[in-house]
Amino acid sequence: MCSLRALSAAAGGVPAAAGLKKSGPISVSVPAQVQNCAVPDFRKAAVALRVWIERGGGGGGRGARSSSAVHATLQSRGTDEEKIEEEKEEERSRSRFNWTTNWYPVIPVADFDKAVPYPFHILGRKVVIWCDKEGQFHCLLDACPHRLAPLSEGRVDEAGCIQCSYHGWSFRGDGSCAKIPQAKPEGAQARACEQTRAQAVALPLLVKQGILFIWPDESSPELARRTPPPTASCVEGEGWCAVETFRDMCYGFDTGMENLVDPAHIPVAHHMVNGGVLGKRSQATALDLEVKAEGPLGFSAEMKKAVGPPSIHTFDAPSRFTYEYELRNIKGARAATTTYCTPTQPGRCRIIVVNARNFMIGLSSGPAWWQIFPRWLDHQLMLNLLDGDASLLHEQERTLVEKSGNQPEAWAKAYFMPTTADRYVGAFRNWLIRHAGKGIGWAPGVDLNLPPLLEKKEDIMNRYSSHTQMCKVCSAALEKFKLARKLLFLVGLAALGVAAVLADPSSRIKAVIFAAISGAIGWWLGGWIQMFYYKGYNHARIP
Ligand code: FES
Ligand SMILES: [Fe+2]
Repeated sequence: MCSLRALSAAAGGVPAAAGLKKSGPISVSVPAQVQNCAVPDFRKAAVALRVWIERGGGGGGRGARSSSAVHATLQSRGTDEEKIEEEKEEERSRSRFNWTTNWYPVIPVADFDKAVPYPFHILGRKVVIWCDKEGQFHCLLDACPHRLAPLSEGRVDEAGCIQCSYHGWSFRGDGSCAKIPQAKPEGAQARACEQTRAQAVALPLLVKQGILFIWPDESSPELARRTPPPTASCVEGEGWCAVETFRDMCYGFDTGMENLVDPAHIPVAHHMVNGGVLGKRSQATALDLEVKAEGPLGFSAEMKKAVGPPSIHTFDAPSRFTYEYELRNIKGARAATTTYCTPTQPGRCRIIVVNARNFMIGLSSGPAWWQIFPRWLDHQLMLNLLDGDASLLHEQERTLVEKSGNQPEAWAKAYFMPTTADRYVGAFRNWLIRHAGKGIGWAPGVDLNLPPLLEKKEDIMNRYSSHTQMCKVCSAALEKFKLARKLLFLVGLAALGVAAVLADPSSRIKAVIFAAISGAIGWWLGGWIQMFYYKGYNHARIP
């Protein structure tokens, strides 16, 4: 809280003609950007304050009661301020964030199954991605121009086109129609493929650092070509290794991104996951976070530490947040975690994590012969982490909508964030309101309502639907586990059969023991198989 007089004094004093002395101190809640604004004179401070008031700053209570009085005082300041305000608004609209002209990560290419078309949602629109025989990726809106059947239910044909499974029309990567099986070979029907209405809508795609990125605006392929994707930190550094994974989450983009930029939750929400690699709840402590710069394209920030250099954090709008840090216990050890949140559908998002490090690189999956650590295990370890807060966020999102009356700018009234540990969350929410149109730029016609609340943890943390079935590596590992278990049970049964016909008692006992061991290993593999479907995480049961 501060008074308008105090604010104006801080801004260089109030001219007598302003008449503010008469109005007396007016008590309002002043936002950080106004408190901290480096304004050389009162006029700019007043404009900044008015912008904030007009945006609904201060909300209810005392600030709201005072705002009309403040507004009335400011109105008398004449047209100069209005002009400044108009210029500011023009500048704001010029620098406003555009949701569609950005690259969004979809999936690590190593996990993409090139044998089948891949359905995906981006900003609420359904698309299909496939890989042709030359290894080129293509993307079309997932609706066949013929009668709108989903192309993702089709197949990649012999020419590398995607073929609709309804009537067999085929489409090239640029959306042009390659074949209509029902068209007569001559006359008007033979030329039907060339008609504009036979064309599917193509979206730009690219692969960078082994990750497939999508550009959800079909009208700006040139801009897409000129725009670099948001790559991950340190991945290409000498002596570094990196592992990527992905998962579809049962919460929306803003909830997911807010979570990714929040270092304070990590030791608590991910308590003792994977042996406590991210900490335990007893390690939750005060965090000295400071946002150094912010604007339409995100913010950069740092977390001060008692010892050593600060950790550097960057939010690159709309989807990337990067942590870079040094490890205290290993000399020279550095790590960078790049997290992405891709807005797929309302109430859903895809999280992609790229972990890079310059130590223990032998313990990572990769192309080198010595990198024997299985990629599927890396994925499962990351899914363990993502289980930790999945239920919390699924429900938190709905409560925020309810408490804020579905008004995105009311987040600050719904949340109570008294510590510096929540600074990044505030910075992200402010970015969303000030620069990104107060919410996600969903495609027209998308149903903005959240999907129904999921009551069962098995649904919220379902690994099969959120990862395994879309991950070539985990699907293959799952099939191998299943096969191994079947073989072990068959071997066990065969050993029992042999035991039944053996005359020698000691041989018979050996056969029975062999059968029991086979059965036990098969049963043990069942636990690994289950991991690909559901594992779960119950905070109350983990000491
Ligand atoms: S709907 Fe696709 S070919 Fe008919
Ligand atoms: Fe996987």
